[in-house]
Amino acid sequence: MPALPEGVRHLPGYLDRAAQEALLEDIRAVVADAPLYVPAMPRTGKEMSVRMTNCGPLGWVTDKESGYRYQATHPATGRPWPPIPEALMRIWHDVAGYPLAPEACLVNFYTAEAKMGQHQDRDEADFAAPVVSVSLGDDCLFRVGGPRRQDKTVSLRLQSGDVLVLGGTSRLAFHGVDRIYPDTSTLLKNGGRINLTLRRVTARNGI
Ligand code: SIN
Ligand code: MN
Repeated sequence: MPALPEGVRHLPGYLDRAAQEALLEDIRAVVADAPLYVPAMPRTGKEMSVRMTNCGPLGWVTDKESGYRYQATHPATGRPWPPIPEALMRIWHDVAGYPLAPEACLVNFYTAEAKMGQHQDRDEADFAAPVVSVSLGDDCLFRVGGPRRQDKTVSLRLQSGDVLVLGGTSRLAFHGVDRIYPDTSTLLKNGGRINLTLRRVTARNGI
């Protein structure tokens, strides 16, 4: 496999099976409070194939009318997002190399057919903190490039329990999920993949 771009760190098997099961329970509780919903693209209103929810003081949402943004409440229930589980906070503090806590955790649920097009995470006010992602359930084919869409990309397989960090010169790297490999994990009873993306949203100086 070609080398990963500088600033991309793949930590395979970061969580063992017991830790994955415990985290999955935490995420089930998050979803019970803040149900998965269908995100839609700005302007066109085209529905994405992943289902989303969030935990943390802020959540990333998108819809036809208002586009990509962070907000403190669930778009359907109007309630604040539930807190980020302690296990995820520990992962962040272990790998992020950033002194402040994450403010948002996006929960993406992929069925066997779902995918995510190449995009940058750039709705945050400060890019000094990395993006930290945790995978649970079925494997996926993840592809990451550079800060320009035309930069060459590298593909890697993410498995249940893997952690991936996009930081430094790769904080604004284009990335996406080309496919899910069904039936590659027994963690989720009905299959599929969960990705948890931790981010710092506001700038350190509060602006
Ligand atoms: C994302 O970029 O929001 C998700 C990435 C992933 O599912 O691994
Ligand atoms: Mn992303």
